[in-house]
Amino acid sequence: MGGACTSAGALIHLQTDFLIIGSGIAALRAAVELAGAGDVLILTKSEPAEGNTGYAQGGIAAAVAPDDAPALHAADTIGAGAGLCDEPAVRVLVEEGPRYVRELIDWGTAFDRQPDGSLSLAREGAHSVRRVLHARDATGREIGGVLGRRTAAQTGLRMVSHALACALVTEHGRCCGVLFLTEQGEAGRVDAAATLMATGGAGQVYAETTNPEVTTGDGVRMAFAAGAAVADLEFVQFHPTVLDVPGAPRFLLSEALRGEGAQLVNAAGDRFMVREDPLGELAPRDRVARAIVRERERTGHAVFLSLQHLGADAVHARFPLISDACRRAGLDLARDRIPVSPAAHYVMGGVAADLDGHTSVPGLFAAGEVACTAVHGANRLASNSLLEGLVFGARAGAAMRAWDRDTSGWRGPEGIDLASIQPDNKRRESLTMTMRDVQRLMWRNVALFREAGALGHAAAELEAAWLGLPDGAPVSIDGARHASLVTVAFLMARAALRREESRGTHFRVDCPQRDDHVWRKHCGDVLMQP
Ligand code: FAD
Ligand code: SIN
Repeated sequence: MGGACTSAGALIHLQTDFLIIGSGIAALRAAVELAGAGDVLILTKSEPAEGNTGYAQGGIAAAVAPDDAPALHAADTIGAGAGLCDEPAVRVLVEEGPRYVRELIDWGTAFDRQPDGSLSLAREGAHSVRRVLHARDATGREIGGVLGRRTAAQTGLRMVSHALACALVTEHGRCCGVLFLTEQGEAGRVDAAATLMATGGAGQVYAETTNPEVTTGDGVRMAFAAGAAVADLEFVQFHPTVLDVPGAPRFLLSEALRGEGAQLVNAAGDRFMVREDPLGELAPRDRVARAIVRERERTGHAVFLSLQHLGADAVHARFPLISDACRRAGLDLARDRIPVSPAAHYVMGGVAADLDGHTSVPGLFAAGEVACTAVHGANRLASNSLLEGLVFGARAGAAMRAWDRDTSGWRGPEGIDLASIQPDNKRRESLTMTMRDVQRLMWRNVALFREAGALGHAAAELEAAWLGLPDGAPVSIDGARHASLVTVAFLMARAALRREESRGTHFRVDCPQRDDHVWRKHCGDVLMQP
Protein backbone atom coordinates (compact mmCIF):
# COMPACT_ATOMS: atom_id res chain seq x y z
CA MET A 1 0.00 0.00 0.00
CA GLY A 2 1.33 3.45 -0.86
CA GLY A 3 1.55 6.42 1.46
CA ALA A 4 -1.56 8.05 0.07
CA CYS A 5 -3.28 11.09 1.60
CA THR A 6 -6.70 12.33 0.55
CA SER A 7 -8.97 14.85 2.22
CA ALA A 8 -12.77 14.77 2.15
CA GLY A 9 -13.97 18.06 3.63
CA ALA A 10 -12.40 18.42 7.05
CA LEU A 11 -11.53 14.72 7.09
CA ILE A 12 -7.97 13.66 6.36
CA HIS A 13 -7.52 10.14 5.04
CA LEU A 14 -4.04 8.60 5.16
CA GLN A 15 -2.92 5.15 4.09
CA THR A 16 0.23 3.33 5.05
CA ASP A 17 1.63 -0.14 5.42
CA PHE A 18 2.81 0.34 8.99
CA LEU A 19 1.35 2.78 11.48
CA ILE A 20 3.23 3.63 14.66
CA ILE A 21 1.45 5.63 17.33
CA GLY A 22 3.98 7.55 19.44
CA SER A 23 7.55 8.76 18.96
CA GLY A 24 9.42 7.55 22.04
CA ILE A 25 12.13 4.90 22.21
CA ALA A 26 9.80 1.96 21.49
CA ALA A 27 8.21 3.68 18.51
CA LEU A 28 11.45 4.86 16.95
CA ARG A 29 13.28 1.59 17.42
CA ALA A 30 10.36 -0.25 15.80
CA ALA A 31 10.45 2.24 12.92
CA VAL A 32 14.14 1.52 12.31
CA GLU A 33 13.35 -2.18 12.14
CA LEU A 34 10.75 -1.51 9.45
CA ALA A 35 13.19 0.28 7.13
CA GLY A 36 12.75 -0.99 3.60
CA ALA A 37 9.64 -3.04 4.41
CA GLY A 38 7.07 -0.51 3.20
CA ASP A 39 5.64 2.87 4.08
CA VAL A 40 5.83 3.78 7.75
CA LEU A 41 3.69 6.52 9.26
CA ILE A 42 4.40 7.81 12.78
CA LEU A 43 1.57 9.67 14.42
CA THR A 44 2.48 11.58 17.55
CA LYS A 45 0.34 13.88 19.59
CA SER A 46 2.80 16.60 20.52
CA GLU A 47 6.35 17.58 19.58
CA PRO A 48 8.21 14.39 18.52
CA ALA A 49 10.59 14.50 21.49
CA GLU A 50 7.81 14.98 24.03
CA GLY A 51 7.26 11.80 26.04
CA ASN A 52 8.87 9.94 28.90
CA THR A 53 11.87 8.96 26.77
CA GLY A 54 12.97 12.57 26.42
CA TYR A 55 12.99 13.01 30.21
CA ALA A 56 14.79 9.79 31.13
CA GLN A 57 17.71 10.61 33.39
CA GLY A 58 19.55 7.74 35.07
CA GLY A 59 20.31 5.58 32.05
CA ILE A 60 19.82 2.27 30.34
CA ALA A 61 20.75 -1.01 32.02
CA ALA A 62 22.63 -3.68 30.09
CA ALA A 63 25.11 -6.39 31.07
CA VAL A 64 28.11 -5.03 29.17
CA ALA A 65 30.72 -4.88 31.94
CA PRO A 66 33.35 -7.63 32.39
CA ASP A 67 32.05 -8.34 35.92
CA ASP A 68 28.45 -8.62 34.71
CA ALA A 69 26.39 -11.20 32.82
CA PRO A 70 22.84 -11.42 31.47
CA ALA A 71 22.08 -14.06 34.11
CA LEU A 72 23.01 -11.59 36.87
CA HIS A 73 20.91 -8.87 35.26
CA ALA A 74 18.03 -11.37 35.03
CA ALA A 75 18.36 -12.27 38.71
CA ASP A 76 18.22 -8.60 39.74
CA THR A 77 15.23 -7.94 37.46
CA ILE A 78 13.36 -10.95 38.83
CA GLY A 79 14.29 -10.04 42.41
CA ALA A 80 12.86 -6.53 42.06
CA GLY A 81 9.76 -7.88 40.26
CA ALA A 82 8.49 -9.63 43.43
CA GLY A 83 7.60 -12.99 41.93
CA LEU A 84 5.67 -11.77 38.92
CA CYS A 85 8.26 -11.30 36.17
CA ASP A 86 7.68 -13.41 33.09
CA GLU A 87 10.99 -15.23 32.93
CA PRO A 88 11.11 -15.78 29.14
CA ALA A 89 10.50 -12.02 28.72
CA VAL A 90 13.30 -11.25 31.18
CA ARG A 91 15.65 -13.56 29.28
CA VAL A 92 14.89 -11.76 26.03
CA LEU A 93 15.46 -8.38 27.70
CA VAL A 94 18.80 -9.16 29.30
CA GLU A 95 20.22 -11.42 26.59
CA GLU A 96 19.30 -9.26 23.59
CA GLY A 97 19.73 -5.95 25.42
CA PRO A 98 23.55 -5.66 25.13
CA ARG A 99 23.39 -6.14 21.33
CA TYR A 100 20.82 -3.37 20.90
CA VAL A 101 22.75 -1.06 23.21
CA ARG A 102 25.98 -1.64 21.24
CA GLU A 103 24.03 -0.85 18.09
CA LEU A 104 22.97 2.47 19.67
CA ILE A 105 26.64 3.22 20.32
CA ASP A 106 27.48 2.36 16.69
CA TRP A 107 24.78 4.82 15.62
CA GLY A 108 26.45 7.59 17.58
CA THR A 109 24.98 7.55 21.09
CA ALA A 110 27.46 9.35 23.34
CA PHE A 111 27.30 7.47 26.63
CA ASP A 112 29.65 8.79 29.31
CA ARG A 113 33.08 7.20 29.39
CA GLN A 114 35.96 6.83 31.81
CA PRO A 115 39.24 8.63 31.10
CA ASP A 116 40.55 5.34 29.60
CA GLY A 117 37.68 5.30 27.08
CA SER A 118 35.72 2.47 28.68
CA LEU A 119 32.02 2.98 29.39
CA SER A 120 31.19 4.69 32.66
CA LEU A 121 28.55 2.55 34.35
CA ALA A 122 26.29 3.73 37.15
CA ARG A 123 24.74 1.78 40.01
CA GLU A 124 21.05 2.11 40.82
CA GLY A 125 18.67 0.56 43.33
CA ALA A 126 18.47 -3.27 43.43
CA HIS A 127 21.24 -3.74 40.84
CA SER A 128 24.00 -5.96 42.20
CA VAL A 129 26.68 -4.39 39.99
CA ARG A 130 27.30 -1.16 38.07
CA ARG A 131 25.50 -1.69 34.73
CA VAL A 132 23.69 1.53 33.83
CA LEU A 133 24.99 3.34 30.73
CA HIS A 134 24.21 7.03 30.86
CA ALA A 135 24.75 10.38 29.20
CA ARG A 136 25.17 12.48 32.33
CA ASP A 137 21.57 12.89 33.61
CA ALA A 138 19.95 13.27 30.18
CA THR A 139 20.21 9.74 28.80
CA GLY A 140 16.76 9.68 27.23
CA ARG A 141 17.37 12.90 25.34
CA GLU A 142 20.64 11.50 23.94
CA ILE A 143 19.13 8.18 22.83
CA GLY A 144 15.95 9.83 21.51
CA GLY A 145 18.06 12.28 19.50
CA VAL A 146 20.07 9.47 17.88
CA LEU A 147 16.95 7.44 17.00
CA GLY A 148 15.13 10.58 15.84
CA ARG A 149 17.92 11.47 13.43
CA ARG A 150 18.15 7.92 12.15
CA THR A 151 14.41 7.65 11.42
CA ALA A 152 14.29 11.14 9.90
CA ALA A 153 16.69 9.91 7.22
CA GLN A 154 14.71 6.72 6.57
CA THR A 155 13.16 6.35 3.10
CA GLY A 156 9.43 5.73 3.15
CA LEU A 157 8.93 7.06 6.67
CA ARG A 158 6.99 10.17 7.54
CA MET A 159 5.94 11.62 10.84
CA VAL A 160 2.77 13.57 11.53
CA SER A 161 3.12 15.46 14.81
CA HIS A 162 0.46 17.22 16.87
CA ALA A 163 -1.99 14.51 15.78
CA LEU A 164 -3.65 12.59 18.58
CA ALA A 165 -4.83 9.05 17.92
CA CYS A 166 -8.27 8.89 19.54
CA ALA A 167 -9.68 5.46 18.63
CA LEU A 168 -8.58 2.29 16.90
CA VAL A 169 -10.47 1.19 13.82
CA THR A 170 -11.34 -2.50 13.84
CA GLU A 171 -13.18 -4.64 11.38
CA HIS A 172 -14.17 -8.25 11.97
CA GLY A 173 -12.10 -8.13 15.16
CA ARG A 174 -8.96 -7.00 13.40
CA CYS A 175 -7.18 -3.65 13.79
CA CYS A 176 -7.09 -1.72 10.52
CA GLY A 177 -5.79 1.65 11.68
CA VAL A 178 -6.77 4.60 13.78
CA LEU A 179 -8.88 7.73 13.96
CA PHE A 180 -7.07 10.92 14.94
CA LEU A 181 -7.63 14.57 15.80
CA THR A 182 -5.28 17.45 15.07
CA GLU A 183 -4.67 20.51 17.20
CA GLN A 184 -6.25 22.56 14.41
CA GLY A 185 -9.56 20.79 14.98
CA GLU A 186 -9.36 18.47 11.99
CA ALA A 187 -10.25 14.78 12.16
CA GLY A 188 -8.70 11.98 10.19
CA ARG A 189 -8.26 8.29 9.68
CA VAL A 190 -5.20 6.20 8.92
CA ASP A 191 -5.61 2.82 7.24
CA ALA A 192 -2.75 0.48 8.00
CA ALA A 193 -1.94 -3.17 7.57
CA ALA A 194 -0.28 -3.27 10.98
CA THR A 195 -0.51 -0.79 13.85
CA LEU A 196 1.93 -0.41 16.74
CA MET A 197 0.72 1.13 19.95
CA ALA A 198 3.77 2.84 21.48
CA THR A 199 2.00 5.58 23.40
CA GLY A 200 3.96 5.26 26.64
CA GLY A 201 2.69 5.50 30.20
CA ALA A 202 -0.09 7.04 32.22
CA GLY A 203 1.56 9.04 35.00
CA GLN A 204 -0.93 11.86 34.49
CA VAL A 205 -3.59 9.69 36.09
CA TYR A 206 -2.05 10.87 39.38
CA ALA A 207 -1.91 14.36 40.88
CA GLU A 208 1.81 13.89 41.63
CA THR A 209 3.91 12.49 38.83
CA THR A 210 7.32 12.67 37.20
CA ASN A 211 5.71 12.23 33.78
CA PRO A 212 5.04 14.96 31.20
CA GLU A 213 1.55 15.99 30.06
CA VAL A 214 1.32 13.55 27.15
CA THR A 215 1.21 10.51 29.45
CA THR A 216 -2.54 10.14 29.77
CA GLY A 217 -2.76 6.41 29.03
CA ASP A 218 -4.43 6.87 25.64
CA GLY A 219 -3.00 3.60 24.36
CA VAL A 220 -4.53 1.51 27.13
CA ARG A 221 -7.90 3.23 26.66
CA MET A 222 -7.90 2.76 22.88
CA ALA A 223 -6.76 -0.85 23.00
CA PHE A 224 -9.20 -1.73 25.77
CA ALA A 225 -12.06 -0.11 23.84
CA ALA A 226 -11.07 -2.20 20.81
CA GLY A 227 -11.32 -5.38 22.86
CA ALA A 228 -7.62 -5.95 23.55
CA ALA A 229 -6.65 -7.68 26.77
CA VAL A 230 -5.03 -5.47 29.38
CA ALA A 231 -3.15 -6.79 32.40
CA ASP A 232 -1.48 -5.97 35.71
CA LEU A 233 -2.78 -2.41 35.94
CA GLU A 234 -2.66 -2.48 39.74
CA PHE A 235 1.13 -2.21 39.48
CA VAL A 236 2.19 1.43 39.30
CA GLN A 237 5.71 2.44 40.30
CA PHE A 238 6.19 5.52 42.48
CA HIS A 239 9.65 7.01 42.18
CA PRO A 240 10.95 7.70 45.70
CA THR A 241 12.87 10.91 45.09
CA VAL A 242 11.13 13.78 43.40
CA LEU A 243 11.94 17.40 44.23
CA ASP A 244 9.41 18.58 46.81
CA VAL A 245 9.66 22.35 47.05
CA PRO A 246 6.34 24.26 47.15
CA GLY A 247 5.83 26.12 43.87
CA ALA A 248 8.67 24.31 42.05
CA PRO A 249 8.00 21.63 39.38
CA ARG A 250 8.06 18.03 40.64
CA PHE A 251 11.40 17.33 38.99
CA LEU A 252 12.81 13.81 39.17
CA LEU A 253 15.97 13.41 41.23
CA SER A 254 17.51 10.37 39.60
CA GLU A 255 18.21 7.18 41.48
CA ALA A 256 21.71 7.52 40.00
CA LEU A 257 22.29 10.19 42.69
CA ARG A 258 21.96 7.49 45.32
CA GLY A 259 24.05 5.21 43.12
CA GLU A 260 26.83 7.80 43.40
CA GLY A 261 26.48 7.93 47.17
CA ALA A 262 23.62 10.37 47.93
CA GLN A 263 22.02 9.63 51.28
CA LEU A 264 18.43 9.83 52.41
CA VAL A 265 18.17 11.62 55.75
CA ASN A 266 15.36 12.85 57.97
CA ALA A 267 15.22 16.36 59.45
CA ALA A 268 17.51 15.26 62.29
CA GLY A 269 20.13 14.05 59.78
CA ASP A 270 19.47 10.38 60.54
CA ARG A 271 19.99 7.96 57.59
CA PHE A 272 16.70 6.15 58.14
CA MET A 273 17.00 3.79 55.11
CA VAL A 274 19.96 2.08 56.79
CA ARG A 275 17.72 0.86 59.59
CA GLU A 276 14.74 0.24 57.27
CA ASP A 277 16.36 -2.07 54.73
CA PRO A 278 19.55 -4.13 54.42
CA LEU A 279 20.14 -2.49 51.02
CA GLY A 280 19.79 0.99 52.52
CA GLU A 281 19.29 3.77 49.98
CA LEU A 282 19.73 1.27 47.13
CA ALA A 283 16.81 -0.97 48.08
CA PRO A 284 14.17 -1.54 45.37
CA ARG A 285 12.12 1.57 44.62
CA ASP A 286 8.87 0.38 46.13
CA ARG A 287 10.51 -0.15 49.52
CA VAL A 288 12.36 3.18 49.46
CA ALA A 289 9.21 5.08 48.42
CA ARG A 290 7.12 3.60 51.23
CA ALA A 291 9.91 4.15 53.76
CA ILE A 292 10.08 7.85 52.83
CA VAL A 293 6.35 8.32 53.37
CA ARG A 294 6.47 6.46 56.69
CA GLU A 295 9.44 8.51 57.87
CA ARG A 296 7.68 11.75 56.99
CA GLU A 297 4.64 10.58 58.93
CA ARG A 298 6.69 9.36 61.89
CA THR A 299 8.71 12.55 62.27
CA GLY A 300 6.18 15.08 60.95
CA HIS A 301 8.96 16.61 58.85
CA ALA A 302 10.34 16.46 55.33
CA VAL A 303 12.85 13.86 54.16
CA PHE A 304 15.97 14.93 52.24
CA LEU A 305 18.55 13.73 49.76
CA SER A 306 21.98 14.78 50.92
CA LEU A 307 25.10 14.91 48.73
CA GLN A 308 26.98 17.19 51.12
CA HIS A 309 29.69 14.57 51.71
CA LEU A 310 30.48 14.30 47.97
CA GLY A 311 32.67 16.62 45.88
CA ALA A 312 30.59 19.58 44.68
CA ASP A 313 32.29 19.95 41.29
CA ALA A 314 31.90 16.28 40.49
CA VAL A 315 28.24 16.36 41.51
CA HIS A 316 27.44 19.35 39.30
CA ALA A 317 29.37 17.91 36.33
CA ARG A 318 27.71 14.49 36.58
CA PHE A 319 24.17 15.84 37.12
CA PRO A 320 23.84 19.14 35.22
CA LEU A 321 20.08 18.99 34.58
CA ILE A 322 19.26 18.10 38.16
CA SER A 323 21.65 20.78 39.43
CA ASP A 324 19.80 23.33 37.26
CA ALA A 325 16.38 22.22 38.47
CA CYS A 326 17.54 22.52 42.09
CA ARG A 327 19.06 25.94 41.39
CA ARG A 328 15.76 27.16 39.94
CA ALA A 329 14.12 26.01 43.18
CA GLY A 330 16.68 28.00 45.18
CA LEU A 331 18.83 25.02 46.20
CA ASP A 332 22.38 23.84 45.53
CA LEU A 333 22.32 20.09 44.79
CA ALA A 334 25.80 19.59 46.24
CA ARG A 335 25.56 21.85 49.28
CA ASP A 336 21.94 21.84 50.43
CA ARG A 337 19.72 19.09 51.72
CA ILE A 338 17.12 18.56 48.98
CA PRO A 339 13.52 17.84 50.12
CA VAL A 340 12.06 14.80 48.36
CA SER A 341 8.87 12.78 48.22
CA PRO A 342 7.53 10.04 45.93
CA ALA A 343 5.44 10.56 42.79
CA ALA A 344 3.86 8.28 40.17
CA HIS A 345 6.53 7.30 37.67
CA TYR A 346 5.92 4.15 35.61
CA VAL A 347 3.08 1.72 34.87
CA MET A 348 4.09 -1.95 34.85
CA GLY A 349 0.69 -3.06 33.55
CA GLY A 350 -0.81 -2.20 30.20
CA VAL A 351 -1.89 -3.74 26.92
CA ALA A 352 -1.09 -7.44 27.15
CA ALA A 353 1.57 -8.25 24.55
CA ASP A 354 3.67 -11.30 23.75
CA LEU A 355 7.42 -11.22 23.23
CA ASP A 356 6.96 -9.97 19.66
CA GLY A 357 4.43 -7.29 20.55
CA HIS A 358 1.32 -9.13 19.32
CA THR A 359 -1.75 -8.17 21.30
CA SER A 360 -4.99 -10.13 21.49
CA VAL A 361 -6.35 -8.04 18.60
CA PRO A 362 -4.93 -9.17 15.24
CA GLY A 363 -3.07 -6.39 13.47
CA LEU A 364 -2.49 -4.48 16.71
CA PHE A 365 0.98 -4.58 18.29
CA ALA A 366 2.18 -2.92 21.49
CA ALA A 367 5.65 -2.10 22.80
CA GLY A 368 7.28 0.06 25.45
CA GLU A 369 5.62 1.39 28.56
CA VAL A 370 2.08 1.00 27.18
CA ALA A 371 2.60 -2.75 26.81
CA CYS A 372 2.52 -5.42 29.47
CA THR A 373 4.86 -8.28 28.62
CA ALA A 374 5.17 -8.82 32.38
CA VAL A 375 8.93 -8.36 32.03
CA HIS A 376 8.94 -6.06 35.09
CA GLY A 377 6.58 -8.10 37.23
CA ALA A 378 5.22 -6.15 40.17
CA ASN A 379 8.07 -3.62 40.32
CA ARG A 380 10.41 -2.50 37.56
CA LEU A 381 14.16 -2.57 38.14
CA ALA A 382 15.70 0.88 37.61
CA SER A 383 16.80 1.69 34.05
CA ASN A 384 15.15 -1.39 32.58
CA SER A 385 12.48 0.64 30.83
CA LEU A 386 14.59 2.29 28.15
CA LEU A 387 16.00 -1.17 27.53
CA GLU A 388 12.48 -2.59 27.28
CA GLY A 389 11.53 0.05 24.69
CA LEU A 390 14.64 -0.70 22.68
CA VAL A 391 14.44 -4.50 22.71
CA PHE A 392 10.69 -4.99 22.48
CA GLY A 393 10.28 -2.05 20.08
CA ALA A 394 12.73 -3.74 17.69
CA ARG A 395 11.01 -7.10 18.10
CA ALA A 396 7.58 -5.60 17.46
CA GLY A 397 8.93 -3.92 14.30
CA ALA A 398 10.25 -7.28 13.09
CA ALA A 399 6.92 -8.95 13.86
CA MET A 400 5.06 -6.25 11.95
CA ARG A 401 7.20 -6.95 8.90
CA ALA A 402 6.26 -10.60 9.16
CA TRP A 403 2.60 -9.77 9.70
CA ASP A 404 2.53 -7.69 6.54
CA ARG A 405 4.03 -10.53 4.53
CA ASP A 406 1.45 -12.94 5.89
CA THR A 407 -1.39 -10.65 4.94
CA SER A 408 -0.28 -9.24 1.59
CA GLY A 409 -3.20 -8.17 -0.51
CA TRP A 410 -5.07 -6.60 2.36
CA ARG A 411 -6.13 -3.08 1.45
CA GLY A 412 -7.78 -1.51 4.45
CA PRO A 413 -11.17 -1.36 6.06
CA GLU A 414 -14.50 -0.85 4.41
CA GLY A 415 -17.66 0.76 5.65
CA ILE A 416 -16.21 2.76 8.54
CA ASP A 417 -18.64 5.37 9.85
CA LEU A 418 -16.46 8.45 9.51
CA ALA A 419 -19.26 10.74 10.67
CA SER A 420 -18.75 9.47 14.19
CA ILE A 421 -15.48 11.37 14.47
CA GLN A 422 -16.33 14.57 12.62
CA PRO A 423 -15.74 17.48 15.01
CA ASP A 424 -19.20 18.39 16.22
CA ASN A 425 -19.74 21.31 18.53
CA LYS A 426 -23.12 19.98 19.60
CA ARG A 427 -21.58 16.90 21.25
CA ARG A 428 -20.33 17.54 24.76
CA GLU A 429 -17.91 15.39 26.71
CA SER A 430 -19.35 14.03 29.94
CA LEU A 431 -17.69 15.77 32.87
CA THR A 432 -19.06 13.94 35.89
CA MET A 433 -15.44 14.03 37.11
CA THR A 434 -12.93 16.57 35.88
CA MET A 435 -9.41 15.43 35.05
CA ARG A 436 -8.18 17.12 38.24
CA ASP A 437 -10.80 15.19 40.24
CA VAL A 438 -9.49 11.92 38.78
CA GLN A 439 -5.87 12.81 39.55
CA ARG A 440 -6.62 13.80 43.13
CA LEU A 441 -8.79 10.75 43.79
CA MET A 442 -6.10 8.43 42.44
CA TRP A 443 -3.41 10.12 44.51
CA ARG A 444 -5.54 9.91 47.67
CA ASN A 445 -6.99 6.42 47.26
CA VAL A 446 -4.92 4.37 44.79
CA ALA A 447 -1.32 5.36 45.46
CA LEU A 448 1.43 3.98 47.70
CA PHE A 449 -0.69 2.72 50.58
CA ARG A 450 -3.99 1.11 49.60
CA GLU A 451 -6.92 -0.44 51.45
CA ALA A 452 -10.26 -1.90 50.46
CA GLY A 453 -12.49 0.98 51.63
CA ALA A 454 -10.64 3.72 49.78
CA LEU A 455 -10.11 1.53 46.73
CA GLY A 456 -13.79 0.57 46.63
CA HIS A 457 -14.82 4.22 46.89
CA ALA A 458 -12.44 5.22 44.07
CA ALA A 459 -13.51 2.32 41.87
CA ALA A 460 -17.20 3.20 42.31
CA GLU A 461 -16.72 6.90 41.52
CA LEU A 462 -14.54 6.11 38.54
CA GLU A 463 -16.95 3.49 37.27
CA ALA A 464 -19.76 6.07 37.27
CA ALA A 465 -17.54 8.52 35.39
CA TRP A 466 -16.49 5.81 32.96
CA LEU A 467 -20.08 4.77 32.29
CA GLY A 468 -20.88 8.44 31.70
CA LEU A 469 -18.32 8.83 28.93
CA PRO A 470 -19.88 9.50 25.54
CA ASP A 471 -20.15 6.52 23.19
CA GLY A 472 -17.77 6.29 20.27
CA ALA A 473 -14.48 8.00 19.60
CA PRO A 474 -13.70 11.23 21.48
CA VAL A 475 -14.36 14.31 19.35
CA SER A 476 -11.91 16.71 20.94
CA ILE A 477 -8.37 16.57 22.30
CA ASP A 478 -9.57 17.41 25.78
CA GLY A 479 -12.31 14.83 25.47
CA ALA A 480 -9.76 12.17 24.54
CA ARG A 481 -7.50 13.13 27.44
CA HIS A 482 -10.42 13.04 29.84
CA ALA A 483 -11.69 9.69 28.53
CA SER A 484 -8.21 8.19 28.87
CA LEU A 485 -7.67 9.37 32.44
CA VAL A 486 -11.11 8.15 33.54
CA THR A 487 -10.77 4.77 31.81
CA VAL A 488 -7.22 4.02 32.94
CA ALA A 489 -7.88 5.21 36.49
CA PHE A 490 -10.97 3.03 36.65
CA LEU A 491 -9.08 -0.03 35.40
CA MET A 492 -6.26 0.62 37.88
CA ALA A 493 -8.60 1.09 40.85
CA ARG A 494 -10.57 -2.05 40.03
CA ALA A 495 -7.39 -4.08 39.60
CA ALA A 496 -5.98 -2.78 42.90
CA LEU A 497 -9.21 -3.61 44.71
CA ARG A 498 -9.21 -7.12 43.31
CA ARG A 499 -5.64 -8.04 44.34
CA GLU A 500 -6.01 -8.83 48.05
CA GLU A 501 -2.34 -9.09 48.96
CA SER A 502 0.79 -6.89 48.93
CA ARG A 503 3.43 -7.41 46.27
CA GLY A 504 6.01 -5.05 44.79
CA THR A 505 4.48 -1.65 44.20
CA HIS A 506 1.00 -2.81 45.20
CA PHE A 507 0.84 -2.41 48.98
CA ARG A 508 -2.45 -3.09 50.76
CA VAL A 509 -2.40 -2.01 54.40
CA ASP A 510 -5.35 -4.33 54.97
CA CYS A 511 -3.52 -7.35 53.43
CA PRO A 512 0.14 -6.56 54.04
CA GLN A 513 1.48 -10.06 53.25
CA ARG A 514 2.48 -11.44 49.87
CA ASP A 515 0.27 -14.42 49.08
CA ASP A 516 1.92 -16.58 46.42
CA HIS A 517 -0.60 -19.35 46.87
CA VAL A 518 -3.51 -17.27 45.54
CA TRP A 519 -1.97 -14.26 43.83
CA ARG A 520 1.19 -15.30 42.05
CA LYS A 521 -0.54 -14.65 38.76
CA HIS A 522 -1.23 -11.91 36.27
CA CYS A 523 -4.68 -10.46 36.29
CA GLY A 524 -6.30 -9.42 33.07
CA ASP A 525 -9.83 -8.29 32.43
CA VAL A 526 -10.62 -6.16 35.44
CA LEU A 527 -14.27 -5.98 34.55
CA MET A 528 -14.76 -9.51 35.76
CA GLN A 529 -15.79 -9.75 39.38
CA PRO A 530 -12.95 -9.53 41.93
P1 FAD B 1 7.31 7.48 25.59
O1 FAD B 1 8.72 7.82 25.48
O2 FAD B 1 6.55 8.09 26.72
O3 FAD B 1 6.63 7.89 24.23
C1 FAD B 1 5.23 7.83 24.06
C2 FAD B 1 4.88 8.60 22.81
O4 FAD B 1 3.51 8.42 22.47
C3 FAD B 1 5.07 10.11 22.96
O5 FAD B 1 5.65 10.54 21.77
C4 FAD B 1 3.65 10.63 23.09
O6 FAD B 1 3.48 11.96 22.67
C5 FAD B 1 2.93 9.67 22.16
N1 FAD B 1 1.49 9.55 22.38
C6 FAD B 1 0.85 9.27 23.54
N2 FAD B 1 -0.48 9.20 23.32
C7 FAD B 1 -0.66 9.43 22.00
C8 FAD B 1 -1.81 9.50 21.17
N3 FAD B 1 -3.05 9.32 21.65
N4 FAD B 1 -1.65 9.78 19.86
C9 FAD B 1 -0.41 10.00 19.33
N5 FAD B 1 0.71 9.95 20.09
C10 FAD B 1 0.57 9.65 21.39
N6 FAD B 1 13.58 4.61 32.29
C11 FAD B 1 14.83 4.09 32.21
O7 FAD B 1 15.00 2.95 31.81
N7 FAD B 1 15.90 4.85 32.60
C12 FAD B 1 15.78 6.12 33.05
O8 FAD B 1 16.77 6.77 33.35
C13 FAD B 1 14.47 6.67 33.16
N8 FAD B 1 14.30 7.92 33.65
C14 FAD B 1 13.06 8.47 33.63
C15 FAD B 1 12.89 9.78 34.04
C16 FAD B 1 11.66 10.39 33.97
C17 FAD B 1 11.49 11.81 34.42
C18 FAD B 1 10.55 9.66 33.48
C19 FAD B 1 9.20 10.30 33.39
C20 FAD B 1 10.69 8.33 33.10
C21 FAD B 1 11.95 7.73 33.16
N9 FAD B 1 12.13 6.41 32.77
C22 FAD B 1 13.39 5.88 32.73
C23 FAD B 1 11.05 5.64 32.19
C24 FAD B 1 11.20 5.66 30.67
O9 FAD B 1 11.63 6.95 30.27
C25 FAD B 1 9.92 5.33 29.94
O10 FAD B 1 9.27 4.23 30.50
C26 FAD B 1 10.22 5.04 28.48
O11 FAD B 1 10.94 6.11 27.92
C27 FAD B 1 8.92 4.84 27.72
O12 FAD B 1 9.20 4.82 26.35
P2 FAD B 1 7.98 4.65 25.35
O13 FAD B 1 8.56 4.71 23.98
O14 FAD B 1 7.19 3.48 25.71
O15 FAD B 1 7.04 5.92 25.65
C1 SIN C 1 16.03 7.57 37.48
O1 SIN C 1 16.91 8.14 36.86
O2 SIN C 1 15.97 7.48 38.70
C2 SIN C 1 14.92 6.96 36.70
C3 SIN C 1 15.37 5.66 36.23
C4 SIN C 1 14.21 4.78 35.86
O3 SIN C 1 13.04 5.17 35.91
O4 SIN C 1 14.50 3.63 35.53
